[in-house]
Amino acid sequence: MAVVPQPLLASALLALLLAAASAADTKNNPADELVSLINANRTASKASNLADNQGLGCIALQYIKAYEGQCDQVGGNKKPVDSSFIDTFAPNCGVQTASLAKITGRLLACQPTYPPPAQAFDMLIADERSLQVLHSKNHTEVGAAVTGTSGGGPYFWCVLFSNGKPNSSFTVEGGVPKTAHPGCFSGNNDECSGAISTGVTAWTLVSAILFALAGAFTL
Ligand SMILES: *[C@@H]1O[C@H](CO)[C@@H](O)[C@H](O)[C@H]1NC(C)=O
Ligand SMILES: *[C@@H]1O[C@H](CO)[C@@H](O)[C@H](O)[C@H]1NC(C)=O
Ligand SMILES: *[C@@H]1O[C@H](CO)[C@@H](O)[C@H](O)[C@H]1NC(C)=O
Repeated sequence: MAVVPQPLLASALLALLLAAASAADTKNNPADELVSLINANRTASKASNLADNQGLGCIALQYIKAYEGQCDQVGGNKKPVDSSFIDTFAPNCGVQTASLAKITGRLLACQPTYPPPAQAFDMLIADERSLQVLHSKNHTEVGAAVTGTSGGGPYFWCVLFSNGKPNSSFTVEGGVPKTAHPGCFSGNNDECSGAISTGVTAWTLVSAILFALAGAFTL
């Protein structure tokens, strides 16, 4: 501590504080960020830009919840039965069942610690098969979701693709999906106050402040 010039240390702390504060401002919804990464990668590969459908995003969050936090069930052939879309996922989201469209692709990943969107993208697109799903011309729309499990890990990310018409599929009664916290889903123009991003950035901010106070007292 003694060898670090004080102005330098102070500005480093200030930078840390500002970074934490702006992270809290701009990273409003990690699920929307993942959709941006997906569309950027698709369009760079001459595939179409996909509509971000909030009803489908909400269903992606329901899809995660069907795993009940069991990370080891992801992969292989274990997946929710197709009838869950009509029986549980759509009603839980307030999505009109008559507006459900075909699911043309699904990606799911999970790990004990929270992976931010860019890392989640790499986890989800881990092999040739998932890359084909990502670039498929069958899709017209997408919905993404992320959530932890009972206040901690494991953290799940899910992306569902569909070939429905963006304006008339997965439509939500009243225009707003039922809230399904904890967790975040894409397409709802909402800041996500789920346990993930806000928890992490708020803690970063708190620890930056504590660190700054500690620094102020020991300088
Ligand atoms: C798209 O994602 C794949 C899988 O991560 C990667 O190999 C490829 O380089 C990406 N394409 C672009 C244009 O970023
Ligand atoms: C696109 O849809 C066709 C017809 O359903 C199917 O055979 C094909 O495997 C799909 N492509 C991808 C990449 O999923
Ligand atoms: C779909 O919705 C968008 C945004 O609300 C609107 O601009 C567009 O005209 C709609 N398209 C159709 C075909 O209804």
